[in-house]
Amino acid sequence: MKITAVLLAAGQGTRMKSDLPKVLHPLCGKPMIWHVLEALKPAATEKPVVVIGYGAERVRKFVGDAAECVLQEPQLGTGHAVLQAESSLKGKTDLVIVTYADMPLLRAETFRQLVETQRLNPGPFSLLTVIADDPRGFGRIVRKDDGTVGAIVEEYVATPGQRAIKELNVGAYCFNADWLWEALHRIEPNPKKGEYYLTDIVEIAARDNLPVQAVVHDDFVETIGINSRFHLSEAEAALRMRINREHMLNGVSMMDPAATYIDVEAKIGRDTTLMPNTYILGGTEIAEGNVIGPNTVIRDSRIGNRCKVFASVLEGAVLEDDVDMGPFARLRKGAYLKSHVHMGNFGEVKDSTLHEGVKMGHFSYIGNADIGSNTNIGAGTITCNYDGEKKHPTEIGEDVFIGSDTMLVAPIKLGAGARTGAGSVVTKNVPEDTLVVGVPARAIRKLERKKKK
Ligand code: UD1
Ligand code: CA
Repeated sequence: MKITAVLLAAGQGTRMKSDLPKVLHPLCGKPMIWHVLEALKPAATEKPVVVIGYGAERVRKFVGDAAECVLQEPQLGTGHAVLQAESSLKGKTDLVIVTYADMPLLRAETFRQLVETQRLNPGPFSLLTVIADDPRGFGRIVRKDDGTVGAIVEEYVATPGQRAIKELNVGAYCFNADWLWEALHRIEPNPKKGEYYLTDIVEIAARDNLPVQAVVHDDFVETIGINSRFHLSEAEAALRMRINREHMLNGVSMMDPAATYIDVEAKIGRDTTLMPNTYILGGTEIAEGNVIGPNTVIRDSRIGNRCKVFASVLEGAVLEDDVDMGPFARLRKGAYLKSHVHMGNFGEVKDSTLHEGVKMGHFSYIGNADIGSNTNIGAGTITCNYDGEKKHPTEIGEDVFIGSDTMLVAPIKLGAGARTGAGSVVTKNVPEDTLVVGVPARAIRKLERKKKK
């Protein structure tokens, strides 16, 4: 049996008051529409169709190969929107799931349940409803005497009696395809707004005496729909809690889950503890036994095992195992800290590798550099890597001791075992095991290197 999802995403989302199409507003690191496409995947067997309109090119660009996009122009309502998928899907699918791209908390399991209900339904479609005290402007479900669904009444046309109905239309349907394409053409424009409402299709079935089934949901959170930025914040809070709960059940500790912000695609290993006000963003992957935060932002980075990251900011960085950093350290793109690196306060590392056991305690900038193992970077050291036009590399060997406040004017190389005196300005390469001092620094004597383990 072929099952295809049609996702409605053409509306402007006027109530968002935004230049960004509503469905591209992010939730836990991904646009709203991404969440719905993910949830639809396990329920459908074919590539979905997304109906686009407002901001069509931006939405199309985001969707890419994940779905076929069809244009609805002008946007004449949800019924008219589904009709735009007819030419792509007619004769090619048995069931059609229709849902709205502004319902990003619906779960895959819920869509599957909807499809199962429709498979057993002799009637033309099934829909998802929720029982809730707060109607939030959702359409009200009017039941017939035999218990099947008789109509959906939109709030602004509902009578006071209908407004009191607590069963609401969530906005997820599963149709027999052949019936859908025929019935859509019978929807009349709404007399007040001139739009074609998909919800009127319920009365079309009822008139034909065909049973419409409802899957009644009681988890109101899952049915949060986004019409305004306030709803967006509610949905984000609910989704965040769902994500955090999943991590906690998998062995991650959080001192305060309400103040822990994890994007939907981030991965975190067991026995890692997240302290409050920590952000784990983008495609970040964190392995086991780490302590992260408080007050830490990590984006698109990879962290090994048993690291401590305290009040720091990391973006596009890699930490191997047992790295200890912060407070107030910053790693930028291309920072690679190997095992047992220590990085203290007010350091910045960009496009550089710090090999095993490098220590960089205080106030340093390291850019475009390769720093050999067990080298010590004294307080205030700076790689002067930019001459105003180009970036230049710094290469430092192992067991080097860079004295406090050294300026390393790149391109430059310091051999293994070299030392610089405090305040040196190093403009020429330093041979192995040599001490340099001064401004600019010049060689003064040959050194005896102590072997470290
Ligand atoms: C809709 C339902 C309502 C339900 C609620 C639940 C209708 C008429 N009403 O109301 O019963 O309780 O959702 O969330 O269906 N769209 C298009 N083209 C259009 C108009 C809308 O693609 O011409 C898309 C929008 O981008 C949006 C979705 O359809 O993703 C729903 O439209 P919206 O205007 O938000 O409908 P609601 O007023 O929320
Ligand atoms: Ca809506």
